[in-house]
Amino acid sequence: MNFWTSSVIHHRQINLAARLAEITPGTLSRVHFTPGGSEAVETAIKVAKQYHYLRGNPNRYKVITREGAYHGCTFGAMAVDGGYFGTRVHLYDPLPPFGRIAPAPYHYRCPHCADQPQCRLDCADDLERVIVEEGAETVAAVIVDPCSTASAVSIPPPGYLTRLRQICDRYGVLLIADEVITGFGRTGRMFASEHWGLIPDIMTVSKGLSSGYMPIGATIVREEIAQVFLDSPEGVLSHGQTYGGHPVACAVALRNIELIEREGLAEQAAEKGAYLLEGLRSLSHHPTFGDVRGLGLLCGLEFVHDKATRQLPDNPRRAGYCMRTLCRDQGLITLTLHPGNVLFLAPPLTISHAEIDQMVGMIDRALSAYEDRYL
Ligand SMILES: Cc1ncc(COP(=O)(O)O)c(C=O)c1O
Repeated sequence: MNFWTSSVIHHRQINLAARLAEITPGTLSRVHFTPGGSEAVETAIKVAKQYHYLRGNPNRYKVITREGAYHGCTFGAMAVDGGYFGTRVHLYDPLPPFGRIAPAPYHYRCPHCADQPQCRLDCADDLERVIVEEGAETVAAVIVDPCSTASAVSIPPPGYLTRLRQICDRYGVLLIADEVITGFGRTGRMFASEHWGLIPDIMTVSKGLSSGYMPIGATIVREEIAQVFLDSPEGVLSHGQTYGGHPVACAVALRNIELIEREGLAEQAAEKGAYLLEGLRSLSHHPTFGDVRGLGLLCGLEFVHDKATRQLPDNPRRAGYCMRTLCRDQGLITLTLHPGNVLFLAPPLTISHAEIDQMVGMIDRALSAYEDRYL
């Protein structure tokens, strides 16, 4: 169902909303369409704040994000930036003052348990501490991308998202899962939340919704939350964009979901992702190989200056630029992530095993060239 009724609506939007309600976890069922991911995040934040307002809690305005997170480039999304924009963020001051930052589950560099084989979930306790210190009665929502992509591709340890769900419930805080990158098969399940049985209150999606063929995003809200809007005279969501849910984009998204299901692309991502991880782990002989993490076809390779001490390159941002260039020289287009020394690998879900072998070979040669230059 569409989130709020509009006098102008078309059947493709209705069909796509119904389809999203079917395939997303739990009672996520009410959909607001946007032209892209940043606007979906903006929508989620507005929904969270208005939800609390309508329930008589107008002071719940803060949104907790996690270190390194990226949730988009519009002002609301930048307010919940976890450091992705780095030192450049001041260029846009003052940002809306509602974002607060908590640590991400980044086991390789965790101040609590990096020396332990398993995460102890102290990172979840850290997030709870931020809620308590800020005053839970002022917190509207926690926003997480389930596999913290921009935060160095840190895959949450078992139990982490369950704990976060419990923490949010304990304090009456909404949990927003930003699945703009992870949605639609990328991690080996239709939505990354499914790996841990997470049912968020609000989910944001874009990219994979149309596999990039048309610009479209969506904010999907749990029925119980939407009901608060529907029951209130002030429940109109003052939020609409000319091209949100454009008929052509909706038609493409519907067909795209059909193809993802028919071709088993999520299952393919699971199998090929495991193959890619294995290939990347075979590069561990490199002196700059730090760590490899991933889930499905969402992987990160962290390169370091000193493997034994996990010492970062002197200037991680510059090292990232250099590594990207060396990869591009090999024919591989990549991004590097926060703080600069994590290669981000998210190939098309249709990639072949031979192409994965090729990718690993290119990274092997790029690492060697990097080491010739810097070690
Ligand atoms: C997790 C996440 N959220 C939001 C966005 C913003 O999406 P868009 O670029 O479509 O505005 C991105 C973009 O990369 C993203 O990775």
